[in-house]
Order: sequence, then structure tokens, then C-alpha cells
Amino acid sequence: MGSPARGPKKRATSLSFGMSVKHFGYIAFVSSPELLCSPAHLPVPSSQDFQIKQRAMANLLSSAPIHASLPDCFVFPPDQRPPASSQAVSLPVIDLSRGRDEVRRAVLDAGKELGFFQVVNHGVSAEAIRDMEAVCAEFFRLPAEEKAAFYSEDTDKPNRLFSSTTYELGDEKYWRDCLRLACGSPVGDTKNNWPDKPKKLREVVEKFVEPTRGVGMELLRLLCEGMGLRPDYFEGDLTGGDVIINVNHYPPCPAPGLTLGLPPHCDRNLITLLLQSTVPGLQVSYKGDWINVESVPNAFVVNFGHLLEIATNGVLKSIEHRAMTNAALARTSVATFIMPAADIPIGPAEELVGEGNPPRYRTVTFDEFMRVYKTVGARRESVEKAFKL
Ligand code: OGA
Ligand code: NI
Repeated sequence: MGSPARGPKKRATSLSFGMSVKHFGYIAFVSSPELLCSPAHLPVPSSQDFQIKQRAMANLLSSAPIHASLPDCFVFPPDQRPPASSQAVSLPVIDLSRGRDEVRRAVLDAGKELGFFQVVNHGVSAEAIRDMEAVCAEFFRLPAEEKAAFYSEDTDKPNRLFSSTTYELGDEKYWRDCLRLACGSPVGDTKNNWPDKPKKLREVVEKFVEPTRGVGMELLRLLCEGMGLRPDYFEGDLTGGDVIINVNHYPPCPAPGLTLGLPPHCDRNLITLLLQSTVPGLQVSYKGDWINVESVPNAFVVNFGHLLEIATNGVLKSIEHRAMTNAALARTSVATFIMPAADIPIGPAEELVGEGNPPRYRTVTFDEFMRVYKTVGARRESVEKAFKL
């Protein structure tokens, strides 16, 4: 969260990227074949469209030519900067192809103890993962004008490209671009709302997201069995929303020690499966410190959102995590979020409430949860305070 102690603030405006506006925005628009060659009967972008495209050119980190130094609006006050080094603790890596009893135990133990673990042999093919990682990285290498077409600052838009983060309430900027995609289950027509470039994007995302959702649902079933809930407890409306994919892109950062890619936050959904990329950068809160999550080939990093914590009456906890940047390599991670339908109530499961174990959270609809979440921010403590009984 934004700290009042933060030093002189500059609003995140195109001023911080004046360079890229000059070099990219103007030239790109004047010389854009779209504009120069658009026949008279085609609609010419309104001035609002033009402005948003200019902001896209200015704000998207992946569209700026180089980052010679870190603009002030990305510089964090000293107490929020990432430490020079942090503890190396391995997250449990669970092989989902082992016997069901063993896997169930491992998933529940890791889930209760750390709230974060990795899974391998999960059934999503190495090819689907490789193609997904490749097409996502390729998306961020598209020419600036092509990306600008998908850029939006409207946080209610389910499919959009934006910069920095919505996990924060303040004016701070984070060293991250994000492509957000809303995916139906099955994907069906929802893919028509995704970018049509690179050409293979829609097909590749569809082939990735459907089996990945399947892994998430299987993990929920295993967790239910372990906790004494019926295995299909989360089937239906509780996981009936669109699956949201956040493709996070962190370009090489000129001063990784002064900023972050994502602030400390908890996810807002039920369960998250992250392809963290071969370039590490994810850190997880552990005993008051931050630990680096090592990169395991073809693994998903799994964690729980606030809503699973509420639904399990706190048996499974939503753990804070954040993303670091690095100076050398661009990093592209893919987070898949399983979400509930918007208007169904979510509260502690009756089976997990009883004598000596009162409900610890109030029941909320996802819509209501999001309304509150947007006002209190993504930090664990503030969300807990808002929903704890
Ligand atoms: C997220 C997230 C971490 C990463 O998208 O919610 O926590 O390493 N991403 O990109
Ligand atoms: Ni997250």
C-alpha cells in the first residue's frame, strides 16, 4: 500500500515517459498506415481514442525504446525497497502423478503450512506451456501501435492491456505491464475479445487455459477431500466466473533495487496457478521475511486467494507475495485465476464451522468483496480486517 512516508510523489503521467511520447507516439501516429491510409468511409479515431493511444505509448514499459534510468515515480521510499538478498527457502514441489492419498496429504500440508507450493506432472502438456510462454512474450514485443489498440485504463474492462497495477490504491507506479484476458469455461466465443495478434494468441491461450483450469479444479477437489468437505464443494457457481489470465511483463529495469514489479498483495480469487517463467522474480512472505521462489521447469506455482481463505474459514490462508524486477532480462509470467460467479454469496463452509470453531469471516458476494477490496487495497491485514468477524 502507498505509505504516507513516501517521498516526493509525481503523478504517473506521460511526463515520466516524455521521451517515448516524443519518439514513438507522434511519429507512430503520423506515419501509422491506419491513419494515413484510412479510407474516408472508415471511422477516424475520436480525440478520446487518440488520447488513450497516446497514453498507451507513454505508459507501456514494453513500448518504450530503452530505460536508461528509473523515472522518479517508480522509486520507492527506502523501507519499501526490496532487500539486497533474501532467504532461499524451497517451496514444496508436489508431483501430481503420485498416488492420490499421498498427493492429497502433500497438497493440504503445504497449503496449510506455507500457503504456496509448486506442482509438476499436472497434466498440462509441456508444449501447451511452452507455446503459451512464447506467445505471451511475443505479444509484448509487438510494435507499440499494435499494443496501443488493446490498451485501456478502465479497470472494469475484462480484457485489456495496462501498465503498473490495480493492487495499489496510490499513485505509485510498478515496473510491470499486464495483459488481462477473461476466459469462459469452455472458452468458446470469449476468445473473440482477446487480441488477434500475434496470430496464434487466441488458439494458444485456449489450449492452455482449459487444461490449466482443470488442474486448479483438481487441486480444489483434493483440498476439499483433505479438509473433510465434499469433493465437488467448489464446483458450480463458486468457481463459475470467467477464468482470468494476467500476463505480467517486467522489462529489464535500470534500478531493480529501488522498485518492484508488483507490490505485496494477496490474490482476490479462489486459487491461482502461476507460470513464473525461467527468469525468477516471485517472492513470498515467510515468517516476516521474503523468500525467493525458485524456477522449476513446467511447474505451476499455486497459491490461494482471499476468497478461499473465507470459504475454508481460514484453514487455507491467502499469503502475501510480490514481484521483483531485474536489470538483465525481461520476465513474462502467466497467472491463471479461478474466480467465482459475481453475485453468489461466499462464506465459511458449514462443515468447517462448529463448536469451538466459530465462523471467522462474514459472508460476501464476490461483487461486494471487490467493492471493499478496491477501497482497502490488497494487503493481507487490511482485507482481513474488512471481512473478519
Ligand atoms: C499476480 C502475481 C507474480 C509474478 O499476477 O497476481 O502475483 O511473479 N504475479 O508475476
Ligand atoms: Ni498475485
